[in-house]
Amino acid sequence: MAGEFDAHERRMWAGKAVPYGRTFAALCGAAVPELVAAAGVGAGTTVLDVGTGSGTAAAAAVRLGARVTAVDAEPGMVELAAENVPGADVRHAVLPELPFPDASFDAVVANFVINHVEDPAAALAELRRVTRPGGRVAVTVWAATGNTAMGLFTEALDAAEVGRPVFPTLPVDFERTPEGLAGLLAGAGWQDPEGRQLAWTHRVSPEEFWQGPASGIANLGLVITGLPAATAALVKEHYDRIAGGRTGADGLLALPAAAVLAVARR
Ligand SMILES: C[S@@+](CC[C@H](N)C(=O)[O-])C[C@H]1O[C@@H](n2cnc3c(N)ncnc32)[C@H](O)[C@@H]1O
Repeated sequence: MAGEFDAHERRMWAGKAVPYGRTFAALCGAAVPELVAAAGVGAGTTVLDVGTGSGTAAAAAVRLGARVTAVDAEPGMVELAAENVPGADVRHAVLPELPFPDASFDAVVANFVINHVEDPAAALAELRRVTRPGGRVAVTVWAATGNTAMGLFTEALDAAEVGRPVFPTLPVDFERTPEGLAGLLAGAGWQDPEGRQLAWTHRVSPEEFWQGPASGIANLGLVITGLPAATAALVKEHYDRIAGGRTGADGLLALPAAAVLAVARR
């Protein structure tokens, strides 16, 4: 039965597929080329993309000639990914349970998903169950350090003196480091786990970046869309001032982003 964290996740993503696809999908998508390469995805590989969102990793795997299945817990994401990636078999499924027989896939990928599941260890054990012996898993999470993009929104909220509610956290958390994520995979029975940090610069206009939380994406989005209109307008004024002062000559923000990628073998 879903606990408080999972229930919060279901509410947080409900109805957010289209705005997610237009905004933060690009931020998450930067990790996809390394993710699919680490999982050994290639022509003819059978691949499962769990928590596919708008389908970025599934699309990359299809382009590589893989036979792709993708699942997501949010029905709107399933619909959008099916539209975006006609070459994939997209279905509704909620980790930590998957509707596939044991050893169904050569590779499983999860791009910024494991940290959205109340029991990440159980989710990784389920990914192992559906992977064939010798097959691979590759997962990403946002790194504990080197990630300052979301700071723009928290700075704007602080400048507007908006307090933030406490949202549910993982009952048993793990370190968002290469060692922490590799350790989580080892604990779930995966062999030879290896983690590494990925870093890149997310270039985006201030207005486009604002549209993520302004459409209710992520916890900060829930905060911003839950404000009275006048307070939300004040937060936006502060955001425009702060973000506007940090754009380059091209008018874009250059936001440091960092993720942890871990890969292992069944
Ligand atoms: C940050 S988004 C990442 C989406 C996509 N992987 C990408 O790279 O753009 C997290 C996704 O995980 C999905 N998700 C969250 N909890 C899930 C669960 N328990 N089972 C399956 N999907 C889940 C959400 O609905 C959302 O689409």
